[in-house]
Amino acid sequence: DNRKVMFSGIKPTGDPTLGNYLGAIKNWVSLQNTYQGIFSIVDLHAITVHQNPEDLKKRSIEIAAIYFAAGIDPKENIVFIQSHVHQHAEAAWLLTCNSYMGELNRMTQFKEKSSKSVKESVPTGIFAYPLLMAADILLYGAEVVPVGKDQVQHVELTRDLANRFNNTYSNVFKIPKPFVNTGSAKIYDLQDPTKKMSKSETSNPNGYILIMDSPDIIRKKISKAVTDSIGIVNYTDEQPGVKNLIDLVCCINGRESSEIVELFKEKGYKEFKEYVAETIINELEPLQNKVKFLLEDKHQIENILKEGARKASEISQKTLDEMKKNIGF
Ligand code: ADP
Ligand code: NA
Repeated sequence: DNRKVMFSGIKPTGDPTLGNYLGAIKNWVSLQNTYQGIFSIVDLHAITVHQNPEDLKKRSIEIAAIYFAAGIDPKENIVFIQSHVHQHAEAAWLLTCNSYMGELNRMTQFKEKSSKSVKESVPTGIFAYPLLMAADILLYGAEVVPVGKDQVQHVELTRDLANRFNNTYSNVFKIPKPFVNTGSAKIYDLQDPTKKMSKSETSNPNGYILIMDSPDIIRKKISKAVTDSIGIVNYTDEQPGVKNLIDLVCCINGRESSEIVELFKEKGYKEFKEYVAETIINELEPLQNKVKFLLEDKHQIENILKEGARKASEISQKTLDEMKKNIGF
């Protein structure tokens, strides 16, 4: 198998959203035949913010079920829970000792997440997590990292760290590249279309659609989505709410934004929103049914994840051994 390796993951910080599905999982499915996929449920990243211990494992299993239901084939890819593979935490420390406060300070995600709090109470994990992300990628020699635009800077940091390590010691790491799928827009919050739709950062539940939301909830949330007083379905930055809904639909059915605008030229927001809601429901319902079916046998999911962790451990240990040998251990 000489396909390039691709690494990606989702944090079990909450129930996954339509943003996670359209921005991440759906792309992985379309890339899995081109690249050797390594897909993790990144629970070590989740705990950068306190997680309810009762929910953490349950959520990880649910996210795995969503990966599989969406079409990630566990026979063709390695799927595992990050905390099951201790090499990640160990490699992250070795990279931490080859990094600088300054470069972490420059990460815009850190700046955004820490701007609201006083410095004293910014969790250290929020500051340091790009180093763990670098370990996730570099341990598998992943050259392709499918991420949303929000994560590109972290993959660039990973490249810097890999080059630095290779120059200081020897060529241990492959240099990864962020892969931002042009067909996948960033999905914004339905109540505040200046913020991305996120399970971790959104407090208003009407702002996001969960992958497992029922048709009625989806209809309700879309009908409440913030638009504007212009009243015309246009694809423009002046109408961020409407633009976001158009992006959502185009991401799902692959149509052009101009086609959607044309389709609703003579119509109002009410009809447009009904179309948006039904498009989402049509996409999610079959997926939801598969997820529910898979979750009837959690034991089987756990076994697949255990096997994934075994394979991941084998690969990552080789890289970790190389790192340690080079450092002098
Ligand atoms: P969240 O912010 O929902 O906690 P994660 O940090 O777990 O999301 O991100 C998992 C993946 O989903 C990443 O590749 C990220 O870029 C993608 N993603 C998350 N939210 C969105 C969004 N609103 N639109 C597009 N992609 C997204
Ligand atoms: Na995030």
